Amino acid sequence: MSGRWWGTRFVTAVVVLAAGLTAVVTSSPEPAVALDNGLARTPPMGFNNWNTTHCRADFNEAMVKGIADIFVSRGLKDAGYQYVNLDDCWALPQRNSQGNLVPDPARFPNGIKSLADYVHSKGLKFGIYTSAGTKTCNTAGFPGGLGHEQDDANLFASWGVDYLKYDNCNNQGVDAQKRYTAMRDALRNTGRPIVYSICEWGRTGPPRVWEWGKPVGNLWRTTGDISDNWTSMIGKAQANRVLAQYAGPGHWNDPDMLEVGNGGMTPTEYRTHFSLWAIMSAPLLIGSDLRKVNEDTFTILKNTDVIAIDQDKLGRQATVISSSGGLVVYGKVLANGDRAVALSNETTSTATIGTTAAALGLGGSSSYTLKDLWSKAIRTTTGSISASVPAHGTVLYRVSRAGTTTRHEAEAATFTTGTTVDKDHSGFSGLGFANTPNAVGSYVQWTVERAEAGRATLVFDYANGTSTDRPMTIAANGTPSATAKSFPGTGAWSLWRTAHLTVDLKAGTNVIRATATNSGGAPNLDYLEVATP
Ligand code: GLA
Repeated sequence: MSGRWWGTRFVTAVVVLAAGLTAVVTSSPEPAVALDNGLARTPPMGFNNWNTTHCRADFNEAMVKGIADIFVSRGLKDAGYQYVNLDDCWALPQRNSQGNLVPDPARFPNGIKSLADYVHSKGLKFGIYTSAGTKTCNTAGFPGGLGHEQDDANLFASWGVDYLKYDNCNNQGVDAQKRYTAMRDALRNTGRPIVYSICEWGRTGPPRVWEWGKPVGNLWRTTGDISDNWTSMIGKAQANRVLAQYAGPGHWNDPDMLEVGNGGMTPTEYRTHFSLWAIMSAPLLIGSDLRKVNEDTFTILKNTDVIAIDQDKLGRQATVISSSGGLVVYGKVLANGDRAVALSNETTSTATIGTTAAALGLGGSSSYTLKDLWSKAIRTTTGSISASVPAHGTVLYRVSRAGTTTRHEAEAATFTTGTTVDKDHSGFSGLGFANTPNAVGSYVQWTVERAEAGRATLVFDYANGTSTDRPMTIAANGTPSATAKSFPGTGAWSLWRTAHLTVDLKAGTNVIRATATNSGGAPNLDYLEVATP
């Protein structure tokens, strides 16, 4: 990461035009390619009162302090929940004579700064809300930030705010990118690190917020508001799960806050909700009043195995592996090479849902371990991954390849002159990925030590954002594969997949070279894993 958080910079880009022509474009100044505030490297976790209180009077200082206390006393802080956030209706309907927002004295008799101090004293972080419009969303709401961006950002920073949710109501038809960029800049100008949550609901465009949000915010709502029922919740999941290519460290898709514990869904449905949010790398903002919920709610919210799927530092949102008749398989690549897989039953009857380790990109081994992240049962399989899943239920597994696997990053390999180590497409492991020249013969070459001679599976993690295959010949110690290995399009440069093949390696030093056989060059290469079969 650059040492600068928010700087603009002059951008010189070589643009490859569709016709194969190249043009050098210099524009100035341009925002950095991602909102480089160093925040939300994993999806934010915390609390927001909206789903449980809306604007009712029980949204007040006692409640917010109570939640902060429970975060500590019930181990939620230890499980990773950090942000304690206020939603709409915390302020009075009028600004004061200085033009500042005024905390509602009935709800917050000691103001917001003292509440933020309290939350901070617990080792937690504090968040607030306003709208990119003239007024917030609720009829009992308060004046929004449109045209007041810097004053409001300054006020929030002076109170110690660490997170801002910026809503979309009463926006007067002003262009969304313009409104949300204005607040980004205002937050930047305060000098305080503030997670910036764009709440535009995926409403306007094209371009849609997921297409322009990366340099603007740390997360963006992809849907309208969630309600505490199955149909609403699964609808949000369905809309959000096709957007994997847009998510990554510092810039997340947000299918809205959690309803777990609010009482409108069954425990099975709430486990599905939590499982799908986790596998989709969604923010985990608890939306129930933890002072009143039952133990089942804590059991769901504190499932650290499931939280680890959400918080996995590689930051790749799951993609849909298969979907048929309401039986949906989601797969997510994890930082250590394991996969998370969700077998999700959207129908009203029990069904068997299955996939394979190979379909998850984990092929090439004779044995895999499956850990059920809800029942905690562990079993092994030769590759089939299948379960009987109740109506509206989800079975969530962590899948590991048996045997030993060693990873060799592409950026640490040797490669054709002209190759660059890039990081502009998220989801890569290590420090970046190798981007070779678009030419036949472009290669990346790894040196791999083996203790013993024998068969090994080579796993190449790659992205190909074109729709044209980028085949490569794979040579182990100078002996090329009989045919070129296919590296077909992955759908986007930020969608990574694996290709594998089995070779014989010798004891000692082995040289593995992947060489492009067509004029597109190699796909972007993230790493090579060498696994015992
Ligand atoms: C909008 C947002 C909700 C909530 C309400 C508050 O509907 O999408 O998440 O913040 O406003 O009024």
